[in-house]
Amino acid sequence: MSAEPELILEVIPPGDGIALDLGGGRGGLRQPLEKLGYRYLNLDIQRFNGGNPDLIGDAHQLPFKNSLFQVVISKDTLEHFAEPWKVVQEVHRVLKDGGYFVVWVPFMHPFHGDDFYRYTPLGLQHLLKDFEIVFFDSPRQVFTVIGLAVIELLKRMRLGFFERITKGICYKFDQWFMQGKSRPASFANSYRVVAKKMSRQGPCKLAARLAGNIECKEDFNDSSIIDPELLRIMCCPKCRGDLFLAEDGKGLDCLGCRLRYPIEEGIPIMLIDRALPLEGKVGQR
Ligand SMILES: C[S@@+](CC[C@H](N)C(=O)[O-])C[C@H]1O[C@@H](n2cnc3c(N)ncnc32)[C@H](O)[C@@H]1O
Ligand SMILES: [Zn+2]
Repeated sequence: MSAEPELILEVIPPGDGIALDLGGGRGGLRQPLEKLGYRYLNLDIQRFNGGNPDLIGDAHQLPFKNSLFQVVISKDTLEHFAEPWKVVQEVHRVLKDGGYFVVWVPFMHPFHGDDFYRYTPLGLQHLLKDFEIVFFDSPRQVFTVIGLAVIELLKRMRLGFFERITKGICYKFDQWFMQGKSRPASFANSYRVVAKKMSRQGPCKLAARLAGNIECKEDFNDSSIIDPELLRIMCCPKCRGDLFLAEDGKGLDCLGCRLRYPIEEGIPIMLIDRALPLEGKVGQR
């Protein structure tokens, strides 16, 4: 039961930088984020559910240079990272000063797939200790949690076709009866967090914008680093050195590591264990 895109989009201010979707799956945030003004990049470790990511890569070793992104999004992914503290460090590295890490993560939620962890509000605070948390809430609370248990029972009774309607009712009940009832909610299905990489530019107004009275412009107007060419912002995930396009266009070469990262169907595969040793002549410079 992953969140609808709207729930995460509500807390992302318009901007003109690059938004990186960590484990973006089928890329459902692409269109809305482009509408908000961002250049969207989806990095995923696989072609999840037939998705078409811009890059195949591992969130634990991002193939990007430092301080590039205005926004990094982790929607329904933080629980899937085996070493989330490493991912958070990487996010901090690739975010610009004043950039935002926007997280939607389950708490009281069934075990699903490659699912490692659950985070309490305190756990999230600790994990994000190098950031300033500017927004924290839980739109899905106790009704959603009950709904999930009911859905599990329905499925066991072969009545799974009631899943959609049960979800719909529970979401509405949480919306009507639970919003703002407790902050942070101790009985939450999931948490929504906006964490800001400390900026030298002064305080952020995101929280105020969310309250509906001030536009948050000052942190989102720097387009100097934006480059339409993906290659220019990428680096070797192993040594963080520059990458060069191979002469035949079929790979990205790191001269330091003597590795070639393959490009398959137009998608760079930036996984160290998929890279091949560079032999002899290397790509064009
Ligand atoms: C539950 S799906 C969420 C997909 C999407 N964010 C959404 O909300 O619809 C989790 C995603 O995380 C990706 N993922 C898991 N481990 C990853 C890793 N180490 N690096 C990058 N992506 C990863 C999966 O391939 C999958 O696309
Ligand atoms: Zn390298």
